[in-house]
Amino acid sequence: MRKIVITSGKGGVGKTTITATLGRRLSADGFKVALIDGDVGLNNLDVAMGVESRVVYDMGDVLAGRCRPFQALVADSDSTARVLPSSIDSADVSAQAFRGIVDTLADAFDFVLIDCPAGIENGFHRAVSSADEAIVVTTPSASAIRDADKVLRLLSTYNLKSISLVVNRVRADLVAKGEMLSAIETAKLLHATLIGIIPDDDVITIYQQLGKSPEFAPSKKAFSLLAKNIESNDRVVIETARRRRWWR
Ligand SMILES: Nc1ncnc2c1ncn2[C@@H]1O[C@H](COP(=O)(O)OP(=O)(O)OP(=O)(O)O)[C@@H](O)[C@H]1O
Ligand SMILES: [Mg+2]
Repeated sequence: MRKIVITSGKGGVGKTTITATLGRRLSADGFKVALIDGDVGLNNLDVAMGVESRVVYDMGDVLAGRCRPFQALVADSDSTARVLPSSIDSADVSAQAFRGIVDTLADAFDFVLIDCPAGIENGFHRAVSSADEAIVVTTPSASAIRDADKVLRLLSTYNLKSISLVVNRVRADLVAKGEMLSAIETAKLLHATLIGIIPDDDVITIYQQLGKSPEFAPSKKAFSLLAKNIESNDRVVIETARRRRWWR
């Protein structure tokens, strides 16, 4: 029933990764989860989740009336989540049509997560106006923060119940050396509600090639905490601090 868009200002900061991994964590916690690829024209989510070879219908088929939204859902092999793939030939999907699909799915699922495309063009509007809640993803870099700031302002003009922030790719070693802003500092700069801190974790990229989320990885606990925060509207975060070795 909850419709959450995962968005960002700058591209490549981890929206698709967070949509996929968060969806899997929510489904591991027993929730029914549908993931929608809002990046119409460029399918990403099905590839990141490793289900692209099993796609029969996609959003374009739903919109053309060739199938119903539920028929187009692909079962994730790594969780109970379902994925609605985007299509490469439906670049002019209207916001209204997209919202219709989201609403139909929302009736049958506890969570519908929408993976937003990069930028603030049509695709952004389509995805955001179909959701009730927004999560903005940023990395702690200056350019990503600047773009996140713009997007947070833009989001405040939509009728959303909540807008929160996830800081991705945090490197504790660089934060400790003062070479990277901490997630808490990033959230303060943006005056945003921080609900997740995800460390930079090479294992994520390696597993993504296999279409899976890592079970034993530094980021696993961070994703579990993010899922719990969303489930219970909480804000518990653990700042990744450098572990000091005793001989240093
Ligand atoms: N926490 C992380 N640690 C390490 N690598 C990460 C992390 N999060 C994302 N990545 C990697 O960063 C790259 C970009 O991530 P992703 O595709 O999720 O970004 P995006 O915001 O969806 O991009 P786009 O704006 O193009 O849709 C991917 O190769 C992904 O594996
Ligand atoms: Mg993406």
